[in-house]
Amino acid sequence: MQIITGLPIALEWLPGLDALLLALKAFNFPPNSEVIVPSNTYIATILAIIHAGLKPVLVEPDIRTYNIDTRLIEEKITNRTVAIMVVHLYGKSCEMGYVTRIVKKFDLKLIEDAAQSHGAKWRDKLTGTFGDFGAFSFYPTKNLGALGDAGALIMQDEDLFKR
Ligand SMILES: Cc1ncc(COP(=O)(O)O)c(C=O)c1O
Repeated sequence: MQIITGLPIALEWLPGLDALLLALKAFNFPPNSEVIVPSNTYIATILAIIHAGLKPVLVEPDIRTYNIDTRLIEEKITNRTVAIMVVHLYGKSCEMGYVTRIVKKFDLKLIEDAAQSHGAKWRDKLTGTFGDFGAFSFYPTKNLGALGDAGALIMQDEDLFKR
């Protein structure tokens, strides 16, 4: 596994957000391509998509978990959809079995916003390791906080790492 870590060099630098942005930019998606994302998340998730010149397509949460309602994802997929960006909120994994099946079925990229889920697992597999990229924040209020801002982006693929 490859890991890119970041420590801030300026106050405006937001490492968790930048990790998400780097992940999206690595794919070089055509402008305005659609990225499926939960409507219930921290603003940085959506900002990363907009900053990358892409279009967020919002999916409502499951009222039992407040994470994305995976049953509502498929109806939002169009021929412009390029990726799903799931968010594991409050230290709890999304329902990843269904997400990975949809990603395979529609040949989409998968990015995990794991800013709030260090060490959380779905069926014995760590969040952040299901997708092409896992993005982490170590902002001091996070489950694992740094002394100041920090973030990380993890991936398996050597080519994505180089990009
Ligand atoms: C779900 C989620 N995504 C992204 C971020 C952005 O992380 P950072 O503040 O390190 O840019 C946060 C943190 O606030 C978050 O909670």
